[in-house]
Amino acid sequence: MTRRKLVAGNWKMHGVSADLTEVTSIALAAETADADVALCLPATLIERAVRAAPGFAIGGQDVHQNEKGAHTGCISAAMLLDAGARLTIVGHSERREAQGESDADVKAKAEAALAAGLSVILCVGESDAIREAGKAVETVAAQLDASLPGSVAEASRFSVAYEPIWAIGTGKVPSTADIDEMHTALRARLVAAFGDAGSEVRILYGGSVKASNAVEIFAVPDVDGALVGGASLKATDFLPIVEAAS
Ligand code: G3H
Repeated sequence: MTRRKLVAGNWKMHGVSADLTEVTSIALAAETADADVALCLPATLIERAVRAAPGFAIGGQDVHQNEKGAHTGCISAAMLLDAGARLTIVGHSERREAQGESDADVKAKAEAALAAGLSVILCVGESDAIREAGKAVETVAAQLDASLPGSVAEASRFSVAYEPIWAIGTGKVPSTADIDEMHTALRARLVAAFGDAGSEVRILYGGSVKASNAVEIFAVPDVDGALVGGASLKATDFLPIVEAAS
């Protein structure tokens, strides 16, 4: 099974109008990249980024599971689509922790986004305490099982991102053997859940991915791309990672 790599940037709570030049630089290079490229931006920038870089995949960083209603500060899948977004992240550890999102919430968000027509990147990952206790694989596999949407009609629109919490923004990265072990386990869970479609779902790695480690990480067999935080903010940092995936 050959899966085209996906390199997605997550700008988190970074970016104002002046930073749209980074989006247009990345979008231009993405036109000739031999990998799918996307940027998940703050909601305030999505529509302007879509106008500035038509044809390029812009996404959100979260979505509410309901279509509309009294949910102050939240954004629906229809709203993201209306702004021109094509994808969204769900279940990032920063939201699971700070907003108390449960696996059931993440599952509902993924299902709502997929049903609306968005692509989804669903994040899972363990804490350092869980890793130290030797329970990383069983914990993350269970988290995935509980967060997965009920079905994926189009596997190309659904990706999983394995992001060890202790590797996010820290400069620490698991060994390639540990990444391999985790991605192999997650692949098995996806196939168990979705059959053949599970082997088409892309599994991204996230956590301190940089140009200096991307080639090594992308060489792991079940690593189908990356979800990149800090190194996605500047085209000069991000594009070498895209190049490593090509
Ligand atoms: O969503 C991205 C991840 O949290 C990784 O962030 O590349 O800054 O470690 P990072």
